[in-house]
Amino acid sequence: MLQTATIAVTDDTGPTEPERGQTTGATAGNGAQPLDVSPLFTPLTIGRLTLQNRFVMAPMGRGSASDGVLSPGYAPYYARRAEGGAGLVIGEATAIDHPTAMHMRTSSTIYGAGAEAWAKVADAVHAKGGAFMPQIWHAALMRSPYPADDPKLEMANRDRKSMGPSGLYMPGLIDPSLTPPEPVQVEEPMTVAEIDDCIKSYARAAATAMAIGCDGINIHGAHGYLIDEFLWSRFNRRTDAYGGSLVNRVRFAAEVVAACRAATAPGFPIMLRLSQWKQQDYRARIAESADELAEIVEPLAAAGADLFDCSTRRFWEAEFAGSDLSLSGWIKRLTRKPTMMVGSLGIAKEVLEKDAMAALRAVAAGGKAAAPTDVATIDGPPHMLEEALRRFARGDFDLLGVGRMMIANPDFANRVRDGDYAALQVYRTEHLMKLE
Ligand SMILES: Cc1cc2nc3c(=O)[nH]c(=O)nc-3n(C[C@H](O)[C@H](O)[C@H](O)COP(=O)(O)O)c2cc1C
Repeated sequence: MLQTATIAVTDDTGPTEPERGQTTGATAGNGAQPLDVSPLFTPLTIGRLTLQNRFVMAPMGRGSASDGVLSPGYAPYYARRAEGGAGLVIGEATAIDHPTAMHMRTSSTIYGAGAEAWAKVADAVHAKGGAFMPQIWHAALMRSPYPADDPKLEMANRDRKSMGPSGLYMPGLIDPSLTPPEPVQVEEPMTVAEIDDCIKSYARAAATAMAIGCDGINIHGAHGYLIDEFLWSRFNRRTDAYGGSLVNRVRFAAEVVAACRAATAPGFPIMLRLSQWKQQDYRARIAESADELAEIVEPLAAAGADLFDCSTRRFWEAEFAGSDLSLSGWIKRLTRKPTMMVGSLGIAKEVLEKDAMAALRAVAAGGKAAAPTDVATIDGPPHMLEEALRRFARGDFDLLGVGRMMIANPDFANRVRDGDYAALQVYRTEHLMKLE
């Protein structure tokens, strides 16, 4: 049963009607005809990579590595998503070759035995016709601020201090409805030598990714980790060339991108993930206006980012007043580079509204998270494909990232292609308990 529904989204500065829906034939508002999803099943070429379709498995940490090495279950887990139709699979955040990059012992790494495990993932995804990119990452001060003192966290390299641009710490995983506390100073600001070391580590990770057969890289520049801590004035209080103005705060990210570009072949796609929201503060913003966003993304595109992964919590939310464009739409217009849109596609209303972190904690503690009762289906409002198609037709994004629904449904893309929405499982936190 396919149904479409009217969508109440403001469109003050969007394009004229004829530009919309030209290529999709989507049936906004008449509630009768099936959606035409075929535009999402067209190829996309980025540098030397051609993707078969626009569906991407978003990067998602599953905490199932041991001492940096993915468990054997990961390769078939990712391969199932490629078999299920994802044109591109992005791996979970994986630590670059720097002693303070890892979050905890269950994080994966992209060096040594960790890189060998990722090579197996890339091979397995390729065998099912998909493309694969690892997400290269440094946790900054989302890593424990006191790694030596907290045995429960089992920090890797516990004898090494955690680091961030200004040595500031604010706990993550907070209740999004609470006002976050002020960050506290737990370390000295990173020295320029430490900054240079980290940049070299990102470059080594990029070179390794290419050497082990990955199709590109996703650089984690979002969610309050190292690159994002430089971008965010709340965490970056530096007074040198890496802090202060937006031009200075974007310098670290741009140098990371440029170093990765230099360490890889021309045409090897470099995707950069950015977000306004942070794990430390869901309401945080690094750009208050499109002009500020341009100051961030233009130098990053110039440094060699081929593609922007625009992480939002809800893809339909307007980024700035006066337009319904979300982050991917803005970044695409500002840089003229392809973008990926991601954020709650197909996620049930109740899952969206409850305290997701409380649910995660309950599951981690062995309890059960409440099952969603108010289920909004993929083809129903407001978490639906129809709205994504409207934005795609308007030229807001090139790739559609799917996170949790792809954990719950390995064959998400194929089900959507076939219009088989009824067979899609509603995502529940319990899905995180198994790597399957
Ligand atoms: C269990 C889980 C782990 C995640 N881990 C990562 C990660 O390692 N790196 C990252 O950039 N985002 C991570 N995310 C965010 C997702 O990539 C995605 O942006 C987010 O889940 C929103 O998409 P969705 O609503 O389709 O799930 C994670 C999300 C979940 C649910």
